[in-house]
This record gives sequence, structure tokens and C-alpha cells, in this order.
Amino acid sequence: MDKILIRGGAPLKGEVTISGSKNAALPILAATLLTAERCVIRGVPDLSDARYMVQIVRALGAEAEFKDGTVTVEAKKVRTHAPYDLVRKMRASVCVLGPMLARKRKAKVSVPGGCVIGPRPIDIHLKGLRALGADVRVEKGCVILEGKNLTGSTVFLGGRFGSTVLGTDNVMMAAALAKGTTVIESAACEPEVIDLANLLVKMGAQIHGIGSPTLTIHGVEQLHGVEHTVISDRIEAGTFMAAAAVTRSEVTLKNARVGHLGAVVDRLDEAGVKIERRGPDLVVRGNGDLKPTDVITMPYPGFPTDMQAQFMVLMAITPGISVVTEKIFPDRFMHVAELARLGADIALEGPSAIVKGVRRLSGAPVMASDLRASAGLVLAGLVAEGQTLVNRVYHLDRGYEKLDEKLRGLGARIERLQ
Ligand code: EPU
Repeated sequence: MDKILIRGGAPLKGEVTISGSKNAALPILAATLLTAERCVIRGVPDLSDARYMVQIVRALGAEAEFKDGTVTVEAKKVRTHAPYDLVRKMRASVCVLGPMLARKRKAKVSVPGGCVIGPRPIDIHLKGLRALGADVRVEKGCVILEGKNLTGSTVFLGGRFGSTVLGTDNVMMAAALAKGTTVIESAACEPEVIDLANLLVKMGAQIHGIGSPTLTIHGVEQLHGVEHTVISDRIEAGTFMAAAAVTRSEVTLKNARVGHLGAVVDRLDEAGVKIERRGPDLVVRGNGDLKPTDVITMPYPGFPTDMQAQFMVLMAITPGISVVTEKIFPDRFMHVAELARLGADIALEGPSAIVKGVRRLSGAPVMASDLRASAGLVLAGLVAEGQTLVNRVYHLDRGYEKLDEKLRGLGARIERLQ
């Protein structure tokens, strides 16, 4: 199993190109199952979750090829059963539910288990699909949906923690091929949901209100093939911004979309990190005085939960007291104990972390627990004195395209040990 060794203290400098968005690519790849025609999806990041989604699409009956960032899919046939072995490795595979139901009027998908960031139920997905007329039952660990007469309806998708990203995706994809009109209230507004909606419109779907919390979808008989380029990854961009901030460096991001990063830029600005547009690029300057901040994670356009661990590392080395409150996944704090191993001073109080900035972090072996926690540990390693060895790097490889190589390109002393 690979490990990442970081010798901390090297400043970063130069340019880095942001890859296509993982969380946009995954449901978009699932959406290719909605048509028998050829779909060409460009800008797909080469990371293990994307490769896995291609395998799932293939296992469900489609022909699919992933080459040089482009996935080509032709789903002439689609199976109705996604077994446990296929689904258990990646929770996001639940987004095949909507396309399978829409295309075959039947879907049997193993219920994804919990994951380290929380229980991750799919009750709201099922509520939405049920509202479209699907009969839903759970048998032997699988959710079985049958909906011969999928019919539009009005459905509210808000939950205790706000709306649901993949739940909105699933209902939107099923509604695209249902009879009549569906209105999704409290739809997720994340840029990744917008990217999927834009793809569906290119495929012939009729969707209004894209990007707003109310989506109106007029079902059509069939969808057709499409060529589409996935949006750039706002979380990867935010992670490099945080990397520049913690190492007190200047880094230029290419292919980043500042319009998707409002809350992150705002909090960085408050923390004393300057972000400037230079033509199509973003320049991040982390060499000013750092100030403590408060961050509350919220659905888009609020501060993303997927940036919480990385931001906490910045707080950990900023003099004064900062507070992070996690409102999406209240237990998503696995990185706290590992950061403590590096000398961070963080106390957990329910869904909040109180971070007292320390003068220095000191390198140590640490254990990655989930994707974004791993990114946080790598950032901590960049600034900690001495060596940090990050174990269980496969978490990182699920969601970042060559993070270690990209950081090395910026001057970080980081290497992958096989
Ligand atoms: N929720 C329910 N019931 C549901 C669905 C969600 O209670 O049926 C709750 C969740 O437990 C959570 C909240 O609603 O408390 C929001 O979850 P959401 O459904 O929006 O999460 P998701 O769609 O499963 C996506 C991203 C996550 C990201 C979240 C929140 C993908 C593939 N995953 O997950 O990304 O954290 O939205 O923005 O798009 C990551 O990339 O590291 C990652 C975990």
C-alpha cells in the first residue's frame, strides 16, 4: 500500500492546473446510461473513483472506454441489477439508481453502507423516486425500485442537513424520462448538480430553474448522445489555495473557476490570504499575516464540507482561536486526532472544533481516514517541521488526480513510497 512522505517547510511557487471535477464526473458518467447513443465525456479526472464509475457503467451492460481524460460510453443495453460487490466500494455509485430506473423502469441496487464521515442514508433519494411513482422496497440488502408508469410530481428534497446532492441528481435523472412534469423543491444548487443538469439538457431533457432550489423537469420520451466537458474541480482548487496559505507561498491556479469558490475565497480573505484574478488564472498569496476565522459548513453557496479538513490545518497554525462548525456531516472530524499527533491544539465540542493556533507543527506518521481528511494531513505535512508519513494513501487517490505530483511541481518535498 502506498504511503506519502513529506519533508515539511519548503515554500511552494509556480502554477498548477486544476483537473475536472470528481463530484461532477461521477453522476455524469452514470447519466450516460440514460441513452443508447454514444456519449463522450471530456475532462474526467484520472482518479480511482472515476475509474471505478467507468467499471460500474461497464458492469451494468455499457461499452465504456477511459483514455486521456475522455470517457466514451455506449449503453445499448442496461442491466437492472447493481450487486453489492460493485456498489460497496464507492458510496457515490448510488447515483446509478435514477438512470437505471428511468431507462429500464426497474432498478435493484445494493444499499450503500455507512462511511467514515457519517451514516449517509438515502431516504431522501427514495422519497423522491417514490413520489415519481416508483414502488420501493428493501430486500436482502438491496433497494428494489419498480416504476412502469413513472410520472412527474412535486417533491421536496430538503432534509435535516439541507438538500441532497446525489439525491437531487437521482430524482432529476429519473424525472427526465418520466411522463409529465416534476417539480423538485429544495433541490441542491451545487455547481456539480448544475453541470449534470446542463449535460441532461444537451441530451434533450427539458429542465428549468437550473442552479436554483426549484427545478422543473418536463419528461421526454428519450434522450440522445452527447459530448460534454466536465467543470473544473472547486475542491481541488480550494485545496491548492489552502496549500499556498499554510506554506505562506504564492501559487497560480489555472483552470479554476472563482465563481464556484465564493465562500472559500471569502474565508481565506478573512484569514489574511489574498486571492487575485489574473486573466483566466487565480493567484493565491499566503505570505501576509494570518488571522483566526470562523467557518460553518453549509450547502452551496455556503462553505463546502469537502474543504473543512484542509481549512482546519490553516487554523491550526494561525495565532488565536478559530472555530469550525460542521453542519453537513456533524461527525466529519476524523482528522482531528491525527492533526493532534502533529501538535495541533483542537478540541471537539459537538459538531464544532475549537482550534487554538500553535507556533509549529511537528512531523509524524499519520493515518488517512477519508479523502478530504487525507488532503488535510498532506497540507499539514507541508508545513510541519521534519518528516510526515501519510499512510493509507488510497483515500487520497480516490479523489485527487496526482496530488503528490502536482505539489512536487510546485516545489514541495513530497514523495510516494510504494
Ligand atoms: N442525507 C440524508 N438523507 C439522504 C441523503 C442525504 O439525510 O437521503 C444527509 C446526509 O447524511 C448529509 C446531508 O444530507 O448530512 C447532505 O448529503 P448529500 O446527500 O448532499 O451528500 P452526497 O450527495 O452523498 C455529495 C458529495 C460529497 C459531499 C456532499 C455534500 C459526491 C459524489 N459526493 O455527497 O463529497 O461531501 O455531497 O456536499 O458528489 C467528497 O468528495 O469527499 C465527498 C464526500
